[in-house]
Amino acid sequence: MEVGIDKMSFFSTQYYIDMVDLAHARGEAPDKYLIGIGQTQQAVAPATQDVVTMGANAADQMLTQADRAEIEEVIFATESGVDQSKSAAVYVQKLLGINRYARTIELKQACYSGTYGLMQARDYVTLHPKAKVLVIASDIARYGINTGGEVTQGAGAVAMLVTANPTIATLNQDNVFMSDEIMDFWRPNDSSTAVVDGKFSANIYRDFFKEVWERYQSQTGRDLNSFKALVFHLPFTKMGLKALRDVLPEVAEQKQHALMDSFEASRRYNKQIGNLYTGSAYLSLMSLLLNDDTLAAGDELGLFSYGSGAEGEMYSLTLQPEYNQGLIKEQLPNLLAQRTQLSIAEYEKMFDSVVLGSADRELDITHDHAKFVLGGVKDQKRQYVEQF
Ligand code: CAA
Repeated sequence: MEVGIDKMSFFSTQYYIDMVDLAHARGEAPDKYLIGIGQTQQAVAPATQDVVTMGANAADQMLTQADRAEIEEVIFATESGVDQSKSAAVYVQKLLGINRYARTIELKQACYSGTYGLMQARDYVTLHPKAKVLVIASDIARYGINTGGEVTQGAGAVAMLVTANPTIATLNQDNVFMSDEIMDFWRPNDSSTAVVDGKFSANIYRDFFKEVWERYQSQTGRDLNSFKALVFHLPFTKMGLKALRDVLPEVAEQKQHALMDSFEASRRYNKQIGNLYTGSAYLSLMSLLLNDDTLAAGDELGLFSYGSGAEGEMYSLTLQPEYNQGLIKEQLPNLLAQRTQLSIAEYEKMFDSVVLGSADRELDITHDHAKFVLGGVKDQKRQYVEQF
């Protein structure tokens, strides 16, 4: 029996900034951001969106009433969670009207935990073939105004429904992973922004990719020629490009061009949205599926997931004949077309309006067009609102 991703859906916030504006404001050459970092725009989260609302807004668009009745687990991956005890999954279960006999859990290991969630879902469905598992990867990447990491911020959520006989792709049982305790990026409990050793983190990413890739090849007997495309965790899109370039010399020139073309398709939306942390590799997968018109049923895709701290994992997916039907085709183009551009001053104000902590507050939700929004905090309880 094949198990994998049956449906995928995406959500990001309605605001963005342009990287040329940010470069000007920070006294950098625009090409450093556009080419050197590989980002053109960046999603900005208002105070009325958090990982719960973004996750619910993503999943809501793809779930039928039958799905909501049949889901057996809700797995929520995030590294920018809103509570140290209560999982984001149980908020989402209620917001989405998912049945009360589902399990709910939140996972954490930096940007890696979305992949762990997906594998947990795959293994559960393998044991329980009638089950549906909802996996959500949702994050707001925050480094701070005028920091080195600022150009690599972003926000959004990817939702995936894992089932037997999936519409999009099977998740193959060929995972190779490694982890090692490394201080490249972390976020202490009292900080709303990440702490990062930027260049070190980028080097560790590359080292992990190389080591995991070599181990993957020796354990599976596969090589780059086995894959139609490689999909990467993209904290900024140049990062994936560097990793890909490290291994391209392993194949003939024609294959190198084909892999580069697919990579360009896979980073198109990430360039415009920014880092999604846990969801980043899966936004890249959606970007590939929606933008690479050379894909065909049976194609093998390799996916490299990385989370600082640090953990890396490589596995393959096999594309299914009707993969396009598991995606909402116009979702991403529409979302991008409908966003409002902020000036850098407006972005800075919005960034500072996001408060960590449980102080009571009422938020103005009238400007937020999303279905699920955070209305405020009352008696230290987060108040989620369904607007339509
Ligand atoms: N035209 C074209 N390119 C230019 C340029 C110009 N005018 N000016 C500079 N560049 C290039 C540089 O040559 C450099 O390219 P290479 O990396 O290929 O050498 C690139 O632009 C970036 O320049 P710098 O290295 O000088 O940039 P920086 O010091 O400002 O920092 C960064 C870059 C370290 C990525 C920083 O943005 C950062 O700390 N980001 C957050 C951390 C991060 O994303 N780490 C990734 C791995 S960790 C991970 O994956 C988990 C996660 O999601 C966080």
